[in-house]
Amino acid sequence: MVSRLNRSVIVYVSYSGNTEEMAHFIRQYVESYGIEVDLYDVTAHIRPIDLSRYDVLFLGTFTWDYGSVPEELEDFLSVVDLTGTEIAFFGSGDTQFGGDSLYCRALKQLKATYGSKWNLLKVEQSPRGYQEERIYHWVKEVVEDVYQIKKSKNIRTALSE
Ligand SMILES: Cc1cc2nc3c(=O)[nH]c(=O)nc-3n(C[C@H](O)[C@H](O)[C@H](O)COP(=O)(O)O)c2cc1C
Repeated sequence: MVSRLNRSVIVYVSYSGNTEEMAHFIRQYVESYGIEVDLYDVTAHIRPIDLSRYDVLFLGTFTWDYGSVPEELEDFLSVVDLTGTEIAFFGSGDTQFGGDSLYCRALKQLKATYGSKWNLLKVEQSPRGYQEERIYHWVKEVVEDVYQIKKSKNIRTALSE
């Protein structure tokens, strides 16, 4: 098995809080595996980040301006070294902005550029409510793949104990 650092990072950009809420759910679910999680808000940080300190990067963004990646995230990505970084993409969008073809299109673009072995996690607007369940299934898929572990119990059951 590949040696692991047992630490992951969630980097996100969010204007109105939906992607940020997703980041918080993801952190809670990842931590339930005993894995440390750092949160990094692209719009609030100016300090550099060393991605080689983490086993996996959860990278979150909303979609903007006819399917675009927000500029703040593009700037961030242009200065970090992503060599060897495994990335799982997540984010919020809204089908009212151009229907299915533009829905969460920023994530599609990022995956095409940087690659990812996992499915994109797309949420419509706020993740609270019925979409929460999709977040923890996605986290389970990524974490259990990266760390080669299995949680016998449902993450939510474990969290509520
Ligand atoms: C000007 C504008 C353009 C947008 N364009 C898109 C788009 O092309 N595709 C999409 O899926 N969502 C689009 N959205 C919706 C946002 O991505 C959505 O509201 C998202 O939940 C915002 O995430 P945040 O709360 O993390 O900032 C747009 C929103 C605004 C205000």
